Amino acid sequence: MNTLTSPTKHRARFHSLTVTNVERLTDNAIAVSFGLDDDMFEEYAFEPGQHLTLRAEINGQDVRRSYSICRSRADALARRELRVAAARVAGGIMSNWLNDTIKVGDTIEVMTPTGSFTCPTDAQATRHHVAIAGGSGITPVLSLLKSALEEEPNSSATLIFGNRHTASIMFLEELEDLKNAYPARFQLINVLDQEATDVELFSGMLNKERLTAIVDGLIPVPTVDEWYLCGPFPMVEGAQQLLEERGVPTAKIHHELFRVDGQDDPEPVIEIDTSAPPEAIVTVNLDGRTTVVEMPSKAESILAATLRARPDAPYACKGGVCGTCRARLVEGEVTMTRNYALEPEEIAAGIVLACQAHPVTEKVVLDYDA
Ligand code: FES
Repeated sequence: MNTLTSPTKHRARFHSLTVTNVERLTDNAIAVSFGLDDDMFEEYAFEPGQHLTLRAEINGQDVRRSYSICRSRADALARRELRVAAARVAGGIMSNWLNDTIKVGDTIEVMTPTGSFTCPTDAQATRHHVAIAGGSGITPVLSLLKSALEEEPNSSATLIFGNRHTASIMFLEELEDLKNAYPARFQLINVLDQEATDVELFSGMLNKERLTAIVDGLIPVPTVDEWYLCGPFPMVEGAQQLLEERGVPTAKIHHELFRVDGQDDPEPVIEIDTSAPPEAIVTVNLDGRTTVVEMPSKAESILAATLRARPDAPYACKGGVCGTCRARLVEGEVTMTRNYALEPEEIAAGIVLACQAHPVTEKVVLDYDA
């Protein structure tokens, strides 16, 4: 039987998938669907909230970007396709290329689902799921909340959704449909910062002050079991601070940044003399194969050094955001430049982002398969 639930853990890999649908969501955003053949169902099983990394050669560059799956599992299974949404980002190579050129029938390299912005559904549970999303931060949230409503018949969901104006709201119609399908279990609060609404509280930036007023007035914190935060950094940071001030345990707060400043900037070029004696030696276990990588400079990332010997090492953003390059540190010590992807408990368990990791010790062992 085909199923898209309970993904089996295996190394993320790319497959060439065919575009089966392109929907214009707003002037600056599209949704792209990929068909799944029978033999692809198991590999593309996903947890709501996970993302797909797309890979394409654009203007001679190998470009990879991650986009969240924006269908519930039931919808994906019924339509036999996965869907992601891409909003234009100023200077964003992939997002603009998708918006300008992608069409039905094209094929594109799509990595199997990754990402830990998830919360397993439980058909027996009675939970209140609350999401705070901004702009294209809706994409994983749509999958998370719709899957929760469909797979947990006793649970309810609330979405606080910030946008500039009505015309810029992605999935407006689908959210209205969700409200009609679950009038007693789904509450939608649209907040618009460049358009007046009937309720003064819902007009203006979805900053910490406004969120505080909305949460304190409408959503008693003790009634909420799971919080999902997804959007621009200031919004997610403000929401996180508010929830921490209200005493919400971090285990109940799931968050994801869809983009951080500098993510689309070119990577700084670090000149590496590969014939120089190594400053560190990194042993990498990937797909059951062990490779020893000599690093002439600790200034480059472990991922950059690893790719010279193992071009199959997984990555997408190279910016510490998507989590695709995660691996377990088995031996030695590393330092990470930035981390927007790992939760504190994952770091405590020894997980690192290879794209941000630099050796501190001369010997480091990383296990991608652990
Ligand atoms: S490749 Fe995205 S976090 Fe490392």
